[in-house]
Amino acid sequence: VLSKRLSWSVARNPLTRLLDEKRRAGAPVVDLTESNPTRAGFDYPEAEILQGLASRASLVYEPAPLGLPAAREAVSRYYGRRHLTVSPEGILLTASTSEAYSFLFKLLCDPGDSVLVPRPSYPLFDYLAALEGVEVIPYPLHYDGVWHIDLGALGGSIRPGARALLLVNPNNPTGSFVKRDELGRLLELCGTHRLALIVDEVFSDYALADDADRVDSFAEGVEGALSFVLSGLSKIVGLPQMKLAWIVVGGPAPARQAYQGLEQIADNFLSVGTPVQHAASALLELAPRLQSAIRDRLLGNLRYLSSRISASPACQLLHLEGGWYAVLRLPGVRGSEDWALELLAADDVHVHPGYLFDFASEAYLVLSLLTRSETFRSGVDRLLARVETTLAGLPARGAAGEEI
Ligand SMILES: Cc1ncc(COP(=O)(O)O)c(C=O)c1O
Repeated sequence: VLSKRLSWSVARNPLTRLLDEKRRAGAPVVDLTESNPTRAGFDYPEAEILQGLASRASLVYEPAPLGLPAAREAVSRYYGRRHLTVSPEGILLTASTSEAYSFLFKLLCDPGDSVLVPRPSYPLFDYLAALEGVEVIPYPLHYDGVWHIDLGALGGSIRPGARALLLVNPNNPTGSFVKRDELGRLLELCGTHRLALIVDEVFSDYALADDADRVDSFAEGVEGALSFVLSGLSKIVGLPQMKLAWIVVGGPAPARQAYQGLEQIADNFLSVGTPVQHAASALLELAPRLQSAIRDRLLGNLRYLSSRISASPACQLLHLEGGWYAVLRLPGVRGSEDWALELLAADDVHVHPGYLFDFASEAYLVLSLLTRSETFRSGVDRLLARVETTLAGLPARGAAGEEI
């Protein structure tokens, strides 16, 4: 009776089953995957947050498919504080970035059309696309000390019916930004194949080091391509429960038409709550304070991880440019799922296996740098000890990895 849109398996995998068992048995799980900022021990300015939500104006319902003008102006001012010029007339509010994707897939794709998505990346794309009857064509990122878009493979994977190129800037979980020298070729591909550009910038305030080579943001639009830039309160102020995100539409003439098309779609849902729209200005003004607490956490955990990894030659910490995650490469004697299962079973440490994000090879683990520092340190210590113990139990290997 159900549509084919829901055809993916919802069976629990061995890792989630083991996690459930551990939790039911009351095991003290050291969770290195915590990415819910509201559970990560940050000191939110409660009074200011609640005051913003208590506006009398919220007692009145004014349906506004694009979002209330005052809230769109607040988003525009947020970009202004980042020295980016974004007009409120190009902004459309949504309840989440996920909803923004669903609107964009409805806007750009007929059933059976496709969108190009990076691999490894955010696992939700497959599902968000399937729910709109849209196919996903993965294009690879590759790592040689820095992450790059494999532009040759991207060009080769474009086929008829491809409607949009998705970029995540910086990407989850690789933390990599689009580089300036990649931009020309990306725009050329968009032009040749008439692809719209969808850029997810939810983590773009979390660059962890200066880098003149990266593209900080696409929010001002790019020469010659129809662009849609996504962001929202989930990461900018660590308030995912508020349910406020947006799309910035930019580019040449079709942009106006696209904006109107999005308004037409949003008019059927009117899903953004009124209180959060009235609070948007006050909430976005909290960004410097909340981001500084989050950034301190990310950098503190990253420093700890780097120092511990440097004494652990079997493991490698991949170069990180931004975002909330760190990627570790572990010895390929186990796959990422087996490492994650072993860590949970033997050490009560919960990590994300790389296969969840579609890493092309083994064995990668993803850790959330948002994790409380005490937990993070204890989890990292146990993880590295487990790698040592596992390797010590294996037959000795020569430098090239062959048994000796
Ligand atoms: C790349 C990326 N986009 C979007 C989101 C979710 O944003 P929202 O809460 O606005 O749907 C996440 C959450 O982790 C993410 O990693």
